[in-house]
Amino acid sequence: MRTPFTDDYDDDFLLRTMMGPNAMRIMEELTSFLPIEPGMRILDLGCGMGISSILLAEKHQATVFAADLWISPTDNHRRFEALGLSQRIIPLAADATQGLPFADGYFDMLVSVDAYQYFGTDEAMLPGLLRHVKPGGRVAVAVPGLRRDFPHGEVPPELRPFWGPDMHFYSLAWWRELWAGERGLRLESCREMDCHRQAWADWLRSPNPHAQGDVPMMEAEAGNHFALIQLTGRKV
Ligand SMILES: C[S@@+](CC[C@H](N)C(=O)[O-])C[C@H]1O[C@@H](n2cnc3c(N)ncnc32)[C@H](O)[C@@H]1O
Repeated sequence: MRTPFTDDYDDDFLLRTMMGPNAMRIMEELTSFLPIEPGMRILDLGCGMGISSILLAEKHQATVFAADLWISPTDNHRRFEALGLSQRIIPLAADATQGLPFADGYFDMLVSVDAYQYFGTDEAMLPGLLRHVKPGGRVAVAVPGLRRDFPHGEVPPELRPFWGPDMHFYSLAWWRELWAGERGLRLESCREMDCHRQAWADWLRSPNPHAQGDVPMMEAEAGNHFALIQLTGRKV
């Protein structure tokens, strides 16, 4: 699947601002499943350096709250301002595990790319986030995951040198089961994303030392284990 906005975007800028598999490309595919209209208020949770937020603001003319834990809102503000997007993207510091500083029902959508796995593997997270989405609004998440859960949770030998406690990788079935129990959300899509290979290939070209650190892991993985998992749903 082509992601034309991302394919035409400034490659050098993207390579410098990616923090994992290309979040702009992933958000472009994710948004093809979402009814976004100009002016919608969207929370981009765990936005990192904001490339997914930029797509939402620039391609869809949404008003984006770009919230992140590790990246300072001042850095993100400078980046958005340089792109002429500071009127449409509001940067802020937020820790999803500590509750979010927003009114109930405030957002038309809550989206998250390559971040939800850090804070959302507990079943209490989804209902806590849903309260900030208006009835009929959407929640959409993309996370790196597995084509099949590892048998008995044991990481295969070829991946063990690269595995750490923050690698919360699970299969589509695992994520579906986690979300299916939430009665406040009607699941609308639950799939492996088409852009998986390209989004990782983009990341491995990044000068970010973490990207270069991921090269041997992806060689060892050899296309056998990983997938990008997409979940979208409507608040009922
Ligand atoms: C791998 S980076 C991805 C960033 C960005 N979404 C991207 O794909 O370029 C993971 C992001 O999750 C964010 N994150 C992790 N735990 C979080 C939490 N508890 N609340 C909010 N954000 C969190 C981090 O700040 C980090 O920017």
